[in-house]
Amino acid sequence: MSRYEFKFGQYTTNVNFYSLEDIIPGNGSLFVADENTSYLIPKELMDKTIILKSGEENKTWESIEAILNKAIELELGRDGLFVGVGGGVICDMTAFAASLFMRGCSVTLVPTTLLAMCDAALGGKTGIDFKNYKNLVGAFYPATELRIGVDTLKTLGKREFLSGMGEVFKTAMIGDKSLLTYLKNKKDSILALDKESLEYMINSCIKVKGEIVEADLYERGIRAHLNLGHTFGHALETVTGFKDFSHGEGVVWGIAKSIETSLLLNIIDEDYAKKVIDLLKEYKYRLKADVDAVEILSAMKHDKKKKGGVIRFILQTAPQETIIREVPEDIILKVVRT
Ligand code: GLY
Repeated sequence: MSRYEFKFGQYTTNVNFYSLEDIIPGNGSLFVADENTSYLIPKELMDKTIILKSGEENKTWESIEAILNKAIELELGRDGLFVGVGGGVICDMTAFAASLFMRGCSVTLVPTTLLAMCDAALGGKTGIDFKNYKNLVGAFYPATELRIGVDTLKTLGKREFLSGMGEVFKTAMIGDKSLLTYLKNKKDSILALDKESLEYMINSCIKVKGEIVEADLYERGIRAHLNLGHTFGHALETVTGFKDFSHGEGVVWGIAKSIETSLLLNIIDEDYAKKVIDLLKEYKYRLKADVDAVEILSAMKHDKKKKGGVIRFILQTAPQETIIREVPEDIILKVVRT
């Protein structure tokens, strides 16, 4: 597998693939895991480990305080190495705590979900949810190393795996059309968690995302393309109370809605649009949601990503051709009602 060294502004992030036996770095000073991932931490490192409750509802300031308290208990200095072992929530919080402790300790992340490997753990977005807003408080603080072990994916449920695949489809659409073809041709081996297929797919996503973040760490331009499907998706998650649709399922619905929007605006290559929708159907995603279109629009208006009161959508005209533009409200309502 490729090993990458990305330059994200002043930071360098190395990405390496490991077998499960070697995935935890022995030189870590403090390990953060949750109830699902603590099995990966070797016994002799347990006294340096804090095990948090799993789940988005624990992505809180209290969890950050718990990590910082553990760092104080272990008498860490600025040369300490925080190691986060888990999905997006654990990776985001470990890196955020590392950014705060002594004004910044090193952090290594061991992402254990597909979503975290392909998206959340790479690129330095860290933080917590605050006052009912997802990721409202945080910092850009890239890890020095990402350690990927695809065997950790074997412990994921099918729904969580497919949820992570949402970010894979998104990444392929914006940055790697050959990956889209791969996702079609290798569907059965991907769903069977064939190691070689997973490594190829994750490796491709890391390359695309890493290059985008190298160009735009602070999301002043092209990084926003990584939000393809997310404006619709976040609104769906909000309106359905974060229960019916997981983040990735929302993103997939959002991808479908962004394609329908582009079709209504007459800006997308129709063959490409059909190819993507057909592929999402082959993976058996729910592309219809029984929701009130006005509520979806209202949730979009409250999304923190809107700029100057205007909702800006990430849309595509062709594979790897992504644009950002405003969309008239009547088109959004029509698309959600379809
Ligand atoms: N998850 C989107 C980004 O990292 O920008």
